[in-house]
Amino acid sequence: AAWERRAARALIALEGVDRAGKSTQGRRLVEALRAEGTRRPHLLFPADRTTEIGQLISSYLVREKNLEDHTIHLLFSANRWEHVPMMKEKLHQGVTIVVDRYAFSGVAFTSAKGNFCLDWCKQPDVGLPKPDLILFLQLSPEAAAERGNFGRERYETSSFQEKVLQSFYCLMEDKTLNWKKVDASKSIEDLHREIKSLAEETMQEVQNKPLGELWK
Ligand code: TMP
Ligand code: MG
Repeated sequence: AAWERRAARALIALEGVDRAGKSTQGRRLVEALRAEGTRRPHLLFPADRTTEIGQLISSYLVREKNLEDHTIHLLFSANRWEHVPMMKEKLHQGVTIVVDRYAFSGVAFTSAKGNFCLDWCKQPDVGLPKPDLILFLQLSPEAAAERGNFGRERYETSSFQEKVLQSFYCLMEDKTLNWKKVDASKSIEDLHREIKSLAEETMQEVQNKPLGELWK
């Protein structure tokens, strides 16, 4: 419908290794968009630990529960899919959504375990709403390790994060996606300004474009 096309919606994903500042920047971006009058911008954590699936994931991450590697991969994907009806509804209403991690984290973390091909890892997320912009917050695993709280959860070791980073680099070679790398070692304020301007640029560009399907 014509009203759908006019809506200034965008789906923006924040990605990067642990401790790169995704959550802080996601909050700041949504607050800034809201302050400037963007209609109901929405922040979403697809690794949402509150749903039943999310609680299973959470207990895996804090090492209360062990899950087989394929199983946890599929649970992360299911945790994204359970948000899709709501995401589509919002996007069709012209609401901009910022996601703190998306399918790229799913693929990067599982494939970093070895014994997984990128293609297998991507399949469960094929067809998700396609982000109009993927902001990759670049930070070396060494710099990430120096930031607080590192090492408490599963996956939070420098050696594993280094492998995750390599998987992200493979995913970034896909030129059908709008990846933008940003330097996450900058101050919170400088990084916020850069992210905000990239987000606003994207919101202008996608105004008349239909929502795409990821990896399809
Ligand atoms: P968080 O730090 O954003 O809460 O994410 C929790 C951990 O889960 C983090 O180490 C990345 C990992 N993760 C996956 O392994 N697969 C996924 O699909 C997602 C979204 C996160
Ligand atoms: Mg974390």
